[in-house]
Amino acid sequence: MESNVTGDVGKPGTGKRMCIIGASGKLGRYMVHHALDRGYEVVGVCRERSTGKLADVADRITVIPGATDDREVVSHAVEGCDAVLTVLVPFGVDHYASGTAQAVLDHARPGARLVFSCGWHISRDGRDVYPWKLRMEVAVFGPLAKLIRFVDVDDQVEACRRVFDSDARWTVVRGSDLEEGDSQGLPVWSRHVGDPVLASNRTRRVDYARFMVEAVENDALIHEAPAIVGRLTPSALAHARTGGRS
Ligand SMILES: NC(=O)c1ccc[n+]([C@@H]2O[C@H](COP(=O)([O-])OP(=O)(O)OC[C@H]3O[C@@H](n4cnc5c(N)ncnc54)[C@H](OP(=O)(O)O)[C@@H]3O)[C@@H](O)[C@H]2O)c1
Repeated sequence: MESNVTGDVGKPGTGKRMCIIGASGKLGRYMVHHALDRGYEVVGVCRERSTGKLADVADRITVIPGATDDREVVSHAVEGCDAVLTVLVPFGVDHYASGTAQAVLDHARPGARLVFSCGWHISRDGRDVYPWKLRMEVAVFGPLAKLIRFVDVDDQVEACRRVFDSDARWTVVRGSDLEEGDSQGLPVWSRHVGDPVLASNRTRRVDYARFMVEAVENDALIHEAPAIVGRLTPSALAHARTGGRS
């Protein structure tokens, strides 16, 4: 692995190791780049068949191939890591998301910063107020996807419940609808879906990844489940203009 001794002095990640579980996906690859830019030594876990998606950074990171819910793989990958970023995905009906979360909670070193990704549909305290479109998607798409054994949203809910119940130094970042495009800067966040600042329900994926990486350095986000939205979306701009009185 390339050392980050020289030009990286003064960067927040210098001398620190970050593991990215689910590094080959769209969000994961953006996170890898942000982490390298911030001076972290990066270890990435991804399915064996997907290692090629990390070819452009293969000489700058350590790639550990394997299922992200494989406890041995995770235990090896998170060894010595100061931070672990985990992409929680509800694929299949074999408890993939909860298995992944549990493996990270069990094997990350005590005191490590843990940051997990999920969608707005996850609620920490039941005080979120959802747009009808999201309610429909969860009510209709959720059971259908489970029926055809494609996706198990309930398991992503269970994964987050385990994180919320843990004493680890966690943050669960709840993403709005995502889009590709150039960065708009660090997304803004709020504790509850339904808060006016979030109304635009749109975030650039590259910025979601940046929020995940920078959350590691922000202790104010420990034990928070921020719901995020793009910094330049109309609702975020309106909120900034009115100082939150909109
Ligand atoms: N998409 C959205 O609009 C949206 C909205 C809000 C929040 N989020 C959250 O953002 C995060 C990233 O989501 P994304 O949609 O942007 O996807 P993504 O970054 O492309 O990530 C998908 C991940 O799932 C893995 N994966 C795909 N098929 C799989 C399978 N059958 N079994 C096991 N793993 C599989 C991928 O691994 P490979 O590289 O090996 O395929 C990749 O690591 C998730 O936590 C999601 O809940 C997404």
